[in-house]
Amino acid sequence: MIEAKNITTAFGDRIIHDNVSFHINNAEIYGFLGGSGSGKTTLMKTLIYLKEPKSGDIFMFGQNLWKLKESKREEIKLQTGVMFQFGALYSSMSVLDNVGVLLREYSTLSKSQIDEIAMFWIQKVGLDKKAATLFPSELSGGMKKRAALARALVLSPKILFLDEPNSGLDPIGARKLDELVLELRDNLGITVAMVTHDVDSIFNIFDRFLIIDNKKIAFEGSIKEIKELKNNPLKELFQMRRG
Ligand SMILES: Nc1ncnc2c1ncn2[C@@H]1O[C@H](COP(=O)(O)OP(=O)(O)OP(=O)(O)O)[C@@H](O)[C@H]1O
Ligand SMILES: [Mg+2]
Repeated sequence: MIEAKNITTAFGDRIIHDNVSFHINNAEIYGFLGGSGSGKTTLMKTLIYLKEPKSGDIFMFGQNLWKLKESKREEIKLQTGVMFQFGALYSSMSVLDNVGVLLREYSTLSKSQIDEIAMFWIQKVGLDKKAATLFPSELSGGMKKRAALARALVLSPKILFLDEPNSGLDPIGARKLDELVLELRDNLGITVAMVTHDVDSIFNIFDRFLIIDNKKIAFEGSIKEIKELKNNPLKELFQMRRG
């Protein structure tokens, strides 16, 4: 689904990723891990046309992402859904209107059709019709995340990009969100690329993941594979969980 080859990124002279490669399979839940400031968000941004790599190629849907013409880029963008790390909802709009934003922008559907589709996704992420009428200030943290997720899903994307969807949630809320992501993949076959700090997500939902360390990918693979390594980069985390 996604193949990134020899990607180098930089801000000015400062290299963030040095010649890294990874791939994300179809209908897989794939994790981006690494310390704060290691470059998780920046790496994800190279996949959604927000940060052009200095060098390297990214293939998505079989197309070379950064070599495409502008008109073709739009087609790709419309097949992806994105929930940003600090992706706030529009405070002046109800949940229903927030979720419908992209449909208003990219479709010629009527208001009632847009509302119907938005409501479908609102319910899909576990919010009810009452919640659809509320404004962001009236929502709990978990409800806000769900609303932002519904907004990212509204164009029925093939790939969903989530940047720390669990951050700021209590442990139960974080697990519920994990379950929701798992359900979306299982029921809709969506490929999910997710940045997280939440170790439990690794154990609960990731099929495969990468760990960024010092500009390189220190590991890419499944939880089973990482457990078999002698120098397991996650050793401390495993011990914490056992303890
Ligand atoms: N727009 C920018 N301009 C300059 N430097 C940036 C920019 N965005 C990010 N950086 C730098 O790139 C590095 C990687 O940042 P990034 O946001 O990708 O890290 P992260 O792993 O997502 O961190 P966190 O876990 O805190 O979200 C950081 O050192 C950051 O300061
Ligand atoms: Mg980040």
